[in-house]
This record gives sequence, structure tokens and C-alpha cells, in this order.
Amino acid sequence: MNTISLGMIQRAAAYIRTKTNLVPEIGLILGSGLGVLADLIEEGISIPYQDIPHFPVSTVEGHEGELLLGNVKGRPVVMMKGRFHMYEGYGPEVTAFPVRVMKELGVKSLLVTNAAGGVNTSFAAGDLMLITDHLNLTGRSPLVGPNDNTLGVRFPDMTEAYSKRLRSFAKEVAEGQGLQLREGVYAGLLGPTYETPAEIVMLRTLGADAVGMSTVSEVIVARHAGLEVLGFSCITNMAAGILDQPLSHSEVMETAEQVRDQFLKLVLGVIPG
Ligand code: 6GU
Repeated sequence: MNTISLGMIQRAAAYIRTKTNLVPEIGLILGSGLGVLADLIEEGISIPYQDIPHFPVSTVEGHEGELLLGNVKGRPVVMMKGRFHMYEGYGPEVTAFPVRVMKELGVKSLLVTNAAGGVNTSFAAGDLMLITDHLNLTGRSPLVGPNDNTLGVRFPDMTEAYSKRLRSFAKEVAEGQGLQLREGVYAGLLGPTYETPAEIVMLRTLGADAVGMSTVSEVIVARHAGLEVLGFSCITNMAAGILDQPLSHSEVMETAEQVRDQFLKLVLGVIPG
């Protein structure tokens, strides 16, 4: 159920505005192991999630909890270092609450990144994937409940969940960097288990190329709010049943660490200077 009101969004944004005059244009949500992007922020300020009214607090290891505002390549940005997941027990509207706050602060476009398992057998651990579309397989939507028409329409169009314009631009940037950028559909599931091999066969049949436990709620809320979205997955491991080995969070974190510099360069590259 939608437990978020316009008042909550406005109070969170008002608190953030007491800490900085910066009006962010671009929002960034950084996935597992990518918190280091935060080091690139110039003249930035950091606000712990626990200080922001109505913000949930991230509970999972390897995910930090602070909102950063500052400039990247001279562009004002707001960055989430650490995000909220439904497997932590939060409703989808809670995991996506920060996106509504970003919109309230002035954000026009949202860049989301995540760690994901490779479902497409032509992928390999360490690949970076441009998200072309998603499958919301969480069984939930952040927009369930009464619709506040000041936030967005009752029945949002999801034809271009991930902006065609930004995707073309991202591909040009990757090509210019000599970076092999995969493309595909991200399936967002509840977690917290990784999938069974049978579930991975199912996901592949459904058209998924990568699988993870985040992003879809955030993107649904972003589109509801009229934000343009760009998304990248870091394929940190192959999903269950593809390679003859078990999956682990430490493997996810290790791979994210290994491709960090490439990923960083790509994200920086797509921020217009
Ligand atoms: Cl294989 N599955 C899910 N759901 N999330 C992941 C993953 C797999 N690998 C990294 N994150």
C-alpha cells in the first residue's frame, strides 16, 4: 500500500535544502560496491539517511547510507550511496521514496546502477550491461493505492522506461571509451535468495538477460514522476545453473570491485560536462 504522502516528500526535501543551496539536475543511485563514485563529487555535502525525515535506513552489509549533493563535471547532482531493498522488509514505495525526494529537489533525469546476475549465457562476470527494459517480478508496485495526481498519472506509460535518447548516448560514450557494453532486459525480483537454476531457465524464457533485487520500484516511481531514466547493470556473476559453482555475496562484491574503474568511467562519461 502507498504509505507515502506529498507532505513526507516535501519535509524530506525541505530538510535537505537546509543543508545546501544546490539544486540537483541529475539523480544517481549506486549499487553494490559502487559507492566509490561518491568520491568524484566536487564541493559535496553528505547527509546520513537517518537524519532525513521519513528516510528509511539501509540495513544490508556493503551498502552505505548517505545522500550526497554536489557537482560532477560541473553538473549539480544528488547521489544515493546505498539504497533500500524490498528484501529488507520495506514496501516498494519506501524503497523508491528517495526518487520522489530527488524529483522534489529538481532532478530531471535518474541514473540507476546495480549488481546483477547474468542470465544471458553469452554474458560473463565483469560485463557491464545497458538496461534496455525491465521485468517487474517483485509482485508489487510502488504505485498501488490512491494516486496523488500532483505526483503523476494513475496509469503511467512504461513504453520507454529506460530512455531511448539516453541509451543511444550511453552506447556512443561506451564506444568512444573502447568499452564493450552489453545490452539487455533486467528482471527485478524480491530476493533475498539468489534464484534456483529452474527459475533462471524461466527468466531466460521470459526474456531476461540479467537478474537482481533492486531498481524496478525506483524506475517505476521515476517514470511516474516524469524523470528520464538511464540504467546500467554490473554483471557480477553468472546466475544459478549456468556455471558449476555456487553463488555468494562476496563474489558479487569482488567482481564489482574489479570493474569499478571501468564502471566509474562509463558513469562519468554519460554525465554531460
Ligand atoms: Cl544471480 N540474482 C539476483 N537476484 N541478484 C543478484 C544476482 C543474482 N547476482 C548479483 N545480484
